[in-house]
Amino acid sequence: MKAPSCTRREICTLFLFLTVFVLIFVLRHMDILEFQPKVKSTIIMLKCSFCTFQPLSPEDALEERLILDSTAWPETPLLPAPISLEQTSDPAHSNFTILPGRKGGQWHVGDQLQVMIQTFDFQGRPKKSGGDFLLARLHNRKLEAGMAGQVVDHLNGSYSAVFSLLWEGDAQVEVTLVHSGEAISVLNRLNRDQPDRMYYKSLFRSGSLSETTLCSVCLKPTQQPLCNYTDLRTGEPWFCYKPKSLSCDARINHFRAGFKEKVLNANEEKLFQSGVNLKVYIWASGPTNVTVLPQKEGQPQVKSSNVTSGPSGYYYQGVWRALGGTTVHEFNASAISQCLKGKAVHMYGDSTIRQWFEFLNATLPDDFEFDLHSLKITGPYMSLDNANSMLVTYRCHGPPIHFHPISTRELRYIANELDDLVGGPKTVVICDIWAHFGTFPMEIYIRRLQSIRRAVVRLLDRAPDTLVVIRTGNPRYLDLFVSLINSDWYTLQRDKVLRAIFKGLNVHLIDAWEMTLAHHLPHNIHPLPPIIRNMINHVVSSICPQNGG
Ligand SMILES: *[C@@H]1O[C@H](CO)[C@@H](O)[C@H](O)[C@H]1NC(C)=O
Ligand SMILES: *[C@@H]1O[C@H](CO)[C@@H](O)[C@H](O)[C@H]1NC(C)=O
Ligand SMILES: *[C@@H]1O[C@H](CO)[C@@H](O)[C@H](O)[C@H]1NC(C)=O
Ligand SMILES: *[C@@H]1O[C@H](CO)[C@@H](O)[C@H](O)[C@H]1NC(C)=O
Ligand SMILES: *[C@@H]1O[C@H](CO)[C@@H](O)[C@H](O)[C@H]1NC(C)=O
Ligand SMILES: *[C@@H]1O[C@H](CO)[C@@H](O)[C@H](O)[C@H]1NC(C)=O
Ligand SMILES: *[C@@H]1O[C@H](CO)[C@@H](O)[C@H](O)[C@H]1NC(C)=O
Repeated sequence: MKAPSCTRREICTLFLFLTVFVLIFVLRHMDILEFQPKVKSTIIMLKCSFCTFQPLSPEDALEERLILDSTAWPETPLLPAPISLEQTSDPAHSNFTILPGRKGGQWHVGDQLQVMIQTFDFQGRPKKSGGDFLLARLHNRKLEAGMAGQVVDHLNGSYSAVFSLLWEGDAQVEVTLVHSGEAISVLNRLNRDQPDRMYYKSLFRSGSLSETTLCSVCLKPTQQPLCNYTDLRTGEPWFCYKPKSLSCDARINHFRAGFKEKVLNANEEKLFQSGVNLKVYIWASGPTNVTVLPQKEGQPQVKSSNVTSGPSGYYYQGVWRALGGTTVHEFNASAISQCLKGKAVHMYGDSTIRQWFEFLNATLPDDFEFDLHSLKITGPYMSLDNANSMLVTYRCHGPPIHFHPISTRELRYIANELDDLVGGPKTVVICDIWAHFGTFPMEIYIRRLQSIRRAVVRLLDRAPDTLVVIRTGNPRYLDLFVSLINSDWYTLQRDKVLRAIFKGLNVHLIDAWEMTLAHHLPHNIHPLPPIIRNMINHVVSSICPQNGG
């Protein structure tokens, strides 16, 4: 079901949902009604959410609808409340099998390997519906080789994972259940009903008076007046409750104040148990590995980086080999310096792009960083090498950034920063924006990316030689708490949106999702150094395609 886009002040009256729709809706949300009886009177409103959505042009609204449709997740039939774990997918009962190759168990480089996955519930009964979130990986630890597989949901409890075979030798299949479909339904519902479970505040100060109030783009309407911090250039909405004794102009900072502790009932929490049904391996019912023989003559090379289908690359001997445009070279410190000489590299985003800044800062000469007396974590940072006239900057993206108190003066939207750049062949722009949007309805993320895209298009119009690089999100360690804020499922869905929005534009995508998934190191919100090194090699290869060793 799609949420109609409503603005904050619009009241979604009953007649929107008259006829059968009301019935279906209420039936489907019986569980909400049961565990939160107090919201009964507002249940119809929840559909429209209390978030403020920036108004869209007809083209952008159409794009939004198409994106929401194309990223719709298979619905898991609602279990009768209270949800019982017994009927949900159990990785320990589920299994997978490698399907025999076309040539009777012989595989060559360039062939496809297919794996059939069958899910079972905790009572060992086969699942009849889809919607589980599975990850598949093919790897060889000795060769330090790895790649992500493509998972197809057959909607009947079985799934396929498909891999392109890209290296010679052993290849072992790994299948992980990240969340059951029932858990996904809960995550999906949370973003609709409780987009305020992560909460933000601002400190207001004037003279000796100070006050702190709640802020968000999803603020429940109350009698309290609001301060409207909607950005005039991008149109990005943001609000705080007005302090009682201070004016809206007295707002001095922004910070994440916390997370509502109890957003699920005890039964729902059981859907997110580490070691039980949260990012747990599914075992094979037969062999888990195959031996891949050399490529047969005349076999077409796997080459496409077909953003929507097929892998974007793979590891071999620990080195990321991108498929498609860029040949990734390895760069040592002096080769990176050589490449960045005379260039300005501007990074905007969250802490996962800050890692790239830190990596360069640590790689390049000692006196490289220019101290802006920035707060640790929030930045902004600037590294300047006068001798090589090389500049690298980092600045975090705007609200809803989760960082520690950040001055309102440093709270900037990426689109505005891009609009302030001249651009040109000596400018590199690197952006990422994903991890801080997990708790919000997708519409908020879509609008943010559309606004960044408009700025990228303007930048490329005035300075077509500017290199624009976009880093995708990556999987991370998950427990119950992290799942509710920034589950890999939230990231995966946002990843699809990001790819759709920047499709066809002259921007380089660094596929942090696959680069983290394919690697043998554990998933981490901040991927470990060997992965970062590969990402940097990929970026520097995009900046200096002819160099490298
Ligand atoms: C589920 O669907 C797939 C693809 O259509 C099919 O191959 C498989 O046999 C089906 N499984 C069951 C249990 O019906
Ligand atoms: C907030 O300000 C923006 C820009 O001035 C305006 O378009 C919007 O209607 C305002 N929203 C509210 C709720 O006052
Ligand atoms: C998976 O395990 C079930 C029992 O849990 C078994 O009946 C089934 O044959 C196995 N599937 C495959 C493909 O081996
Ligand atoms: C799979 O791996 C095991 C142990 O690593 C090895 O003994 C076996 O030969 C491999 N099988 C194939 C088909 O490669
Ligand atoms: C990408 O894959 C799709 C579906 O397989 C195909 O239709 C399309 O032609 C491919 N595009 C490129 C550039 O290879
Ligand atoms: C950059 O490097 C310098 C010197 O090695 C160090 O003092 C500084 O903390 C680093 N800055 C960041 C943001 O990592
Ligand atoms: C760095 O790499 C270049 C080739 O790209 C090589 O010529 C140079 O010797 C290397 N420097 C170090 C310190 O390894």
